[in-house]
Amino acid sequence: MKRLEGKSALITGSARGIGRAFAEAYIAEGATVAIADINLSRATETAGELGSQAYPVEMDVTQQASIDAAIATVVAKVGRLDILINNAALFDLAPIAEISRESYDRLFAINVSGTLFTLQAAAKQMIAQGHGGKIINMASQAGRRGEALVAVYCATKAAVISLTQSAGLNLIPHGINVNAIAPGVVDGEHWDGVDAMFAKYENRPLGEKKKLVGAEVPFGRMGTAQDLTGMAVFLASSDSDYIVSQTYNVDGGNWMS
Ligand SMILES: NC(=O)c1ccc[n+]([C@@H]2O[C@H](COP(=O)([O-])OP(=O)(O)OC[C@H]3O[C@@H](n4cnc5c(N)ncnc54)[C@H](O)[C@@H]3O)[C@@H](O)[C@H]2O)c1
Repeated sequence: MKRLEGKSALITGSARGIGRAFAEAYIAEGATVAIADINLSRATETAGELGSQAYPVEMDVTQQASIDAAIATVVAKVGRLDILINNAALFDLAPIAEISRESYDRLFAINVSGTLFTLQAAAKQMIAQGHGGKIINMASQAGRRGEALVAVYCATKAAVISLTQSAGLNLIPHGINVNAIAPGVVDGEHWDGVDAMFAKYENRPLGEKKKLVGAEVPFGRMGTAQDLTGMAVFLASSDSDYIVSQTYNVDGGNWMS
């Protein structure tokens, strides 16, 4: 039996990368998925590729009106919202002396405020519906420790882990589970950008950082977006009903090592 049959999901930042893989996995399990992204043309292309259970929604998680409109679109189209993945995020890298306020504000606006206020809007809808729901936040191993060049992103992901703890406690009386996934290093367009930033600050050729971080993973390679889908389906399914406020590492052993 399909584990998400008839469920309505919204995944932020799902035009590409990990969010797209989550959408594909949810659709395979029977859900209908809003491909919600600031990049509407890419979201439209992705939804078209994923088939009739996917539809694009333009959404900027830094704008309250855009968050509210996206939830309203889902409700108008499918009739309800059962699952939210707060997946949209931005990465940046700089030594402490070079961190700009602009970068700090942008990362916190997307990764932290975006996560909290999308979670809030989804929770309000789920509470009004009266039959619970599932909210999954994308954290990171970066939220569990500092990194010399990654202070701001690490701080945003630590905040996501903390928000997951508080929101999970506050929303479980409504039957809404809030949990998070902490990936390690996941190959894709995102990490191509990260690799280029490390190349600049660590004076490396392009591609070298990716090889290094992949070799350091105990599993023996970087993760793929598909490596994360099992946990994302589990946390959206009734199998996780008794799980509250947790952040799960899905990282090939990277954090443990
Ligand atoms: N790739 C990794 O190695 C890795 C590791 C740990 C955690 N994560 C987390 O996993 C999640 C997905 O990562 P990814 O690698 O797929 O990233 P990605 O950069 O490939 O995708 C992010 C998506 O978010 C969208 N987005 C950006 N700003 C937005 C906004 N304001 N509103 C709505 N959408 C917006 C982008 O258009 C893009 O489609 C992120 O939360 C990331 O921090 C990724």
